[in-house]
Amino acid sequence: PEERTLVLIKPDAVRRGLVGEIISRFERKGLRIDAMDVRTMDAALADAHYAEHVDKPFYPPLHAFMTGGPLVALVLSGDQVIDVVRNLVGATDGRRAAAGTIRGDFSLSNRENLVHASDSVDSAKREIALWFPELA
Ligand code: CMP
Repeated sequence: PEERTLVLIKPDAVRRGLVGEIISRFERKGLRIDAMDVRTMDAALADAHYAEHVDKPFYPPLHAFMTGGPLVALVLSGDQVIDVVRNLVGATDGRRAAAGTIRGDFSLSNRENLVHASDSVDSAKREIALWFPELA
């Protein structure tokens, strides 16, 4: 089915000049860009976006990383886009992500892994409402 997903091109990708490379991969796959904006996450948005992780031991450094510079937020749409994007992005840990995926090709980190993508229809709805309420 047609779906929408929220993608964040994280501050490490912006710093490293990988924004174009990453967006190109989504475009060449045939996905549509419904919204796109450069933003810097503030503390409240980080805590809301990562609500399921705020109590985890890795959250303080994740919070610092995600609020530490500009990122690019996008809403992508297409057939089964949630799974399609997660396959293009690869496993969370860049050291283990398969070659050919964004993280597998460009990240050596479990935290600075370049991209966030919604993991289910429910989280996509929640995250799009948070980042692009005009689309919700
Ligand atoms: P993301 O898909 O944005 O969702 C949660 C983020 O937390 C994840 O990508 C990583 O950036 C980070 N993360 C997840 N697990 C760990 C971990 N074990 N150690 C450090 N960072 C993590």
